[in-house]
Amino acid sequence: MSTAAIVPAAGDGLRLGADRPKALVSLAGEPLVVHALRGLRASEVVDRVIVAAPIAAGDELRAALPSEWNGWVRVIDGGATRQASVAAGLEALSHDHDLVLVHDAARALVPPAVVVRVVDALLGGADAVIPVLAMADTVKRVRGGVVLETVDRAELYAVQTPQGFQRRILAAVHAAAVDSDAPATDDAALVERAGGEVCAVDGDSEAFKITRPLDLALAEAVLRSRRHSL
Ligand code: CTP
Ligand code: MG
Repeated sequence: MSTAAIVPAAGDGLRLGADRPKALVSLAGEPLVVHALRGLRASEVVDRVIVAAPIAAGDELRAALPSEWNGWVRVIDGGATRQASVAAGLEALSHDHDLVLVHDAARALVPPAVVVRVVDALLGGADAVIPVLAMADTVKRVRGGVVLETVDRAELYAVQTPQGFQRRILAAVHAAAVDSDAPATDDAALVERAGGEVCAVDGDSEAFKITRPLDLALAEAVLRSRRHSL
């Protein structure tokens, strides 16, 4: 079994509000996307990576990659939506890979153990796998500033990446979704829409998505504590 990963990294990062696309924002001296790739690399279960880069920033992104990753990672142009970026990655992937992970560049600090758990579940026969984390907050449904109900959180989970798929299934659900007017914010949703089964494995709080400035400060702190414990 050969495993490839697609890394959607083509977003603008509007909520982070930096002066460059989010994947190229520096964290401890390196772009976020380099950290995300390092997590995949350290898992030792990813044979090949395709990065979907912001269109005007492909060369800058390539230049930031360590030369020993030549041949392991390839950078292509992303699309206008996350779904389009993943579809471009699928298109660029050779057919040698049976398993495909999709991992957001914005989840820069994913622990390698999460990647391994996802791949193990695929090797165990799952069609689609997502890492999840139990909700810490009480969750309520609110409309127009008024609380409608408190939702029982026992069955609610926050979803992370990498999400993993048998390649043929990911390719089929993306092909079916090309013309949909509601692009999915994650890939497992496309499998769900098609009636497929998605398995959940344990995620990790360090696989959080860097979305807003506070997340970047948290990421700096996580990296410092990791370096401290080496
Ligand atoms: N992404 C992508 N192509 C797009 C939009 C998003 O590859 N057209 C990627 C982002 O680069 C990110 C991941 O999808 O790694 C998750 O998206 P998000 O965290 O929303 O990032 P941005 O869209 O860049 O941020 P924002 O929504 O704040 O602009
Ligand atoms: Mg976005």
